[in-house]
Amino acid sequence: EALAALFPAGIPRLAAVTGWPLTATRSPLLHNYWCDTLGIEGLYCAIPLPPEAFERGIRTMQSLGFRGSNVTIPHKEAAFALVDRRTRAADRAGAVNTLIFEEDGTITGDCTDGTGYLASLSEAGIAMPRKALVLGAGGASRAICAALLDSGCSLLLANRTTARAAELVEALGGGTVVPWERWPESLPEVSLLVNTTALGMGGQGDYDWSAALGGAAPDLAVSDIVYMPLETPLLAAARARGLATVDGLGMLIHQARPGFAAWFGRMPGEDPAGVTEEGSMA
Ligand code: ATR
Repeated sequence: EALAALFPAGIPRLAAVTGWPLTATRSPLLHNYWCDTLGIEGLYCAIPLPPEAFERGIRTMQSLGFRGSNVTIPHKEAAFALVDRRTRAADRAGAVNTLIFEEDGTITGDCTDGTGYLASLSEAGIAMPRKALVLGAGGASRAICAALLDSGCSLLLANRTTARAAELVEALGGGTVVPWERWPESLPEVSLLVNTTALGMGGQGDYDWSAALGGAAPDLAVSDIVYMPLETPLLAAARARGLATVDGLGMLIHQARPGFAAWFGRMPGEDPAGVTEEGSMA
């Protein structure tokens, strides 16, 4: 009642992103921008929760009337275990990045990372590849590999720790592991290269991307899922060779859209009008 008095037009719809330490997230900017531009009385906030407080935090958000939450590192597996039901995409990814708090008190878990990635390719004008090479075998890689495989794309996977790549291929029931040191040799076979490793952010030693791309076919598309910075060392090297590139901003936007629609009732547009690296809306 006190809240109702404070908000005569109705309490804003609430959603959040939770992660730990959650210092780098741009999700609040994006969702609040969409609320503003669509005229929705909504508020999307960042709620840092250390792992030991994750479940308590989610239950508290439910009891406060939140519609749901995005979940990021390191909680995507905990979210997978916590939910009452999962979408097929979440099952394939082995992770949940979108929680929908249902009116009956249950929670539905989705993983929109893989479809968000594919949507970012299509938005960039890149045709669905017949064969792709994915670098990295972490959580982001698994969601993307699952989406590629489930769209009929053949998959090569390279990871510094080979055993992790082998586990991923086993879990997904598709794909072929190539040795990390020799991934550039596979480039002539593929029409898409996806980097999901931390090498994307630069400053992780000086990886010689330019030399690695030496054998690329001219029609190779190169993508990096990192969005800070947008121009990663890999994408710079690819552009210098005249290759088509896709940065991580499109995936950020497209993975966010289904959650926004579920919580705030409208599917947002695809154009964020620019989330700058400083974190302000252009
Ligand atoms: P995410 O969930 O974001 O994918 P992650 O599970 O920590 O994060 O995975 C990070 C990925 O980056 C892994 O594939 C990791 O390789 P390992 O499995 O061998 O650890 C990769 N990675 C991180 N730093 C790297 C580096 N300096 N060189 C090559 N690969 C690196």
